[in-house]
Amino acid sequence: MDSNLDPWGSSQVKDYKKMREEFGIEPFDFNLSGNKMAIRNLIVGQRDFWRIKKAMDRKDKFAAMTGLMPSGEMHLGSKAIIEQMIYFQQKGAEAHIAVADLESYATRNIPLEKARAIAIENFLLNYIALGLKKCNFYFQSTSSRIQKFAFVLSKEVTFSEMKAIYGFDDSKRMLEINSPLIQASDILSPQIYGEAMPTIVPIGADQDPHLRVTRDISGRMNIIKTRKNEDGLTFSIGGSGDPEPFFQIIKKATAGLNIRIKKINTKYRTIEVEKYGEDLYDLETAISRMERGLNPNNTLAPSSLIMRLETGIRGGKMSKSVPDSTISLNEDPGEAEKKIRKALTGGRENVEEQKKLGGNPYICPVFELYLYHLSSEESDLKRVEDECKSGARLCGACKMEASDLMKALLVGLKEKRESSRHMVKEFLENE
Ligand code: TRP
Ligand code: SF4
Repeated sequence: MDSNLDPWGSSQVKDYKKMREEFGIEPFDFNLSGNKMAIRNLIVGQRDFWRIKKAMDRKDKFAAMTGLMPSGEMHLGSKAIIEQMIYFQQKGAEAHIAVADLESYATRNIPLEKARAIAIENFLLNYIALGLKKCNFYFQSTSSRIQKFAFVLSKEVTFSEMKAIYGFDDSKRMLEINSPLIQASDILSPQIYGEAMPTIVPIGADQDPHLRVTRDISGRMNIIKTRKNEDGLTFSIGGSGDPEPFFQIIKKATAGLNIRIKKINTKYRTIEVEKYGEDLYDLETAISRMERGLNPNNTLAPSSLIMRLETGIRGGKMSKSVPDSTISLNEDPGEAEKKIRKALTGGRENVEEQKKLGGNPYICPVFELYLYHLSSEESDLKRVEDECKSGARLCGACKMEASDLMKALLVGLKEKRESSRHMVKEFLENE
């Protein structure tokens, strides 16, 4: 099993740099105006985000995709993903949200009917309350096109690959082995049932294995495969059919962008082209459009944005399986206050020391509450941080302030959920 990226486990990633190096994830260094998590450095990695940035800058069509596990309450840790979905929706993305009820049936034993109620009451209503607008919201269990495409793409993956990625052993049930493929189908579906387009999938670091599988599958289903070499690109034509129509596509696309062809090798079915620089986006878009005409399974590799996982209030990962460490968006405000009172902090042994030496906000779960949820302005956040470090802020008072802000947040959400209930029907119109 990948040491620290287990989609069904409860480990907390400690060193994101190491994670990036181990799994070939790129650091995030884009300027995303108005994206609170980007500004606060809570995006710890990405795959092919350049393509999304380009689509946004050009106002091209692109998709944003996520899925939710309807296995319990929606908690604070899952709020980050949906905030990103809302951000990209506001930037023009076509938003798609899968209720992963087949996955929760497979891995958490949740009956489908129950999953449905949870998905609507605990998730969809909160999504709307947080600002999500009408999108493609669907259930894996009732979507025959998702299931059908999962079946089609399962042709591309062997059991030994699944074992290597997920650590499955021979005793795994077929159901569990299959469920990541349903998710791959979710992620590619905006393109398969629409047009090939950049797709952003905001995820927690623990979901990266799913993205790797899906990106591999996307590449395998494309007939024209693109690879960077030292000074340009190499295209190779997959399969055993006549490569000529695909050579034609590459010639046409490169000619359109004045990219020079260096070498055509008919035996090995490859074409090498020289430098492409800034043209890569246009080149792959043109090629993909043309390949689509010959291959309905052509897609662009989905991109990901990897969010830093929020620490639980009592340390560890913020997860549904540790209720004391987690605050749900439907939580009673009084309960939330009790949990925050018992939170771990980055404070010192005693008040004197804290006043003298200051606290450490960077290891403090209470500070994370401000960072992720409670401070809406950068200046507020900075004030908490500075006061903590200088010793001007003591943990007791800091927790009180956090509780008050959290209560206001929860009460506000509750009101919005109630006033948004009439919108649920609109989101479920395809059901
Ligand atoms: N596996 C995800 C989770 O555990 C849920 C999910 C299903 C998903 N389909 C998806 C996430 C597509 C991103 C994209 O929460
Ligand atoms: Fe954490 Fe607040 Fe204590 Fe600082 S003062 S360590 S932010 S609880």
